Amino acid sequence: METLFKKIEDTHGASFDPTDLIRAAILNITSSLTLARKYDYDEEEFKQLVHSTDVIMSLFGSAGTDLMLKRLRLSPSKTDKIFKSAKMEYNSFIVSNIQRRKKDFDPAVIESLLDVYLKKVHEKEDLGPYINLDTIALLVGALFIAGSDTSSFQILWVLVYLISHPQALNSVKEEVDKVVGRDRLPTMDDQAYMPFTQAVINECMRLCAPLPMGVMHASSDDTSLCGYTIPKDTLILSNIWGVHHDPNIWTKPHHFNPSRFLDSNGQLVEDDNLIPFSTGM
Ligand code: HEM
Repeated sequence: METLFKKIEDTHGASFDPTDLIRAAILNITSSLTLARKYDYDEEEFKQLVHSTDVIMSLFGSAGTDLMLKRLRLSPSKTDKIFKSAKMEYNSFIVSNIQRRKKDFDPAVIESLLDVYLKKVHEKEDLGPYINLDTIALLVGALFIAGSDTSSFQILWVLVYLISHPQALNSVKEEVDKVVGRDRLPTMDDQAYMPFTQAVINECMRLCAPLPMGVMHASSDDTSLCGYTIPKDTLILSNIWGVHHDPNIWTKPHHFNPSRFLDSNGQLVEDDNLIPFSTGM
């Protein structure tokens, strides 16, 4: 966060597009939590990571369609090749960081998911047949891909809504100043004391869930749901956008109204119809 704030301060109040900065911050946080590796945004290795993520994310939709249509094609498509090359860059980034951390590993310093694994290996714990360096590398890659654009676009949408709703922006600022102040970074413990800010985040997740149809699933067996029969091997998508904009659930569903998540005392209310992380199916 300090790196992000420094970069924002460096703009000296001039207008700027925060997209690249927010995306870089999210990647850096992911890198730090998974691999204990924090970057300066100008480092070549980090720029490479940002580039590969961009390529993978921009091709995800078309590559997904390509994969579904694979049987119709005789030769690999151009998308396939670009996607594979970005994936290889990603793998080499993760593998080289794993090797680096492994070499310098200190069991007294546990800062990341990788460290937890290395510590267990160091303590000779039996991790079973599926947990090894290869699967840890796959897991780290999945966390990078699944967490980067979802989180950064959600933050960018919050900025968009706050900029276009100055009253809400002022209320968030007042709450942040009151609970966190200007001399420290927020922590998760602050969240409970910031109902309005949380309501704004909920409302932005309702209006602009980053994965409006979730990810593809399939039924592993014949089943039924709400009276509908779902045969084995049926493709299942969760219509998150539909639930979030259903006028039978939400009053004026297309309007930005954080108060819908607050009770008469200004306290946050849970709503089971808010499902930005999908339905848990
Ligand atoms: C605003 C932030 C985020 C939103 C709205 C979001 C939303 C979602 C949704 C809708 C799915 C599909 C779930 C399903 O259909 O079963 C998903 C899957 C997933 N998300 Fe997130 N996500 C966010 C951030 C993150 C972050 C920060 C991480 C990790 C660092 C992450 C890791 C994953 C993973 C690993 C999956 C795949 C789970 C599976 O394969 O079953 N997500 N996310």
